[in-house]
Amino acid sequence: MSFISVAIDGPAGAGKSTIARRVAGELGYLYVDTGAIYRTVGLYAKRMGADVYSEEAIIPLLDQLQITMKVEADGVQHMYLGTEDVTGKIREPEVSMLASAVSAHGAVRSFLLDMQRDLAKSQNVLMDGRDIGTVVLPDATVKIFLTAKPEVRALRRWKELREKGAPDTFEQVLEDVISRDYNDSHRAVAPLRQADDAVLADTSELTLEESIQLILDIIKEKI
Ligand code: DC
Repeated sequence: MSFISVAIDGPAGAGKSTIARRVAGELGYLYVDTGAIYRTVGLYAKRMGADVYSEEAIIPLLDQLQITMKVEADGVQHMYLGTEDVTGKIREPEVSMLASAVSAHGAVRSFLLDMQRDLAKSQNVLMDGRDIGTVVLPDATVKIFLTAKPEVRALRRWKELREKGAPDTFEQVLEDVISRDYNDSHRAVAPLRQADDAVLADTSELTLEESIQLILDIIKEKI
């Protein structure tokens, strides 16, 4: 029996994880946030004192890396490094850049490939990331490229950070969004790009509820 897989890719701050989680819940599919996996590797590399920009420094660490994803009773995807639950830690702003840096290394990407593919073998999944439709699940049932203008994404992110009491200014957040976009789409291995057969969804002018509806409509039309 084959399972349904939905691949949602797009740049940072397009609302991907919020939208994807809600849509997966609505459809009863497992939601997999692959960015959380890269964030966990970034945090690990930093803790090991490695230069996250150096692939040679990261490769030897992968042997000892014990990374697990578990969906707990609260329905939330928890990430573990060994036995430590790092779900909260990986959301710290510093970890965004660490994740972006380690995700540029081919060795890191291939190390994580099977882990991601295996998840789609035994259940219906909705997976979000940067290269799900292009590399991880090239035969996904539905592929969506979810995006919004950089200013809109930065504004959403800045509001979120402000609610958490973070001191970042809008300009800093915008700069971070632009530089992460650049890193993610210019790296040599599995750069962020829309798969040829992906449907483009731009949420710049849409509310969260409208975005969720749009994604549900796109999926329902294809399954
Ligand atoms: O979606 P996010 O912000 O949590 O992702 C963190 C970083 O991980 C992001 O800069 C790009 C990288 N990433 C990736 O390269 N491939 C994925 N499938 C998911 C995330």
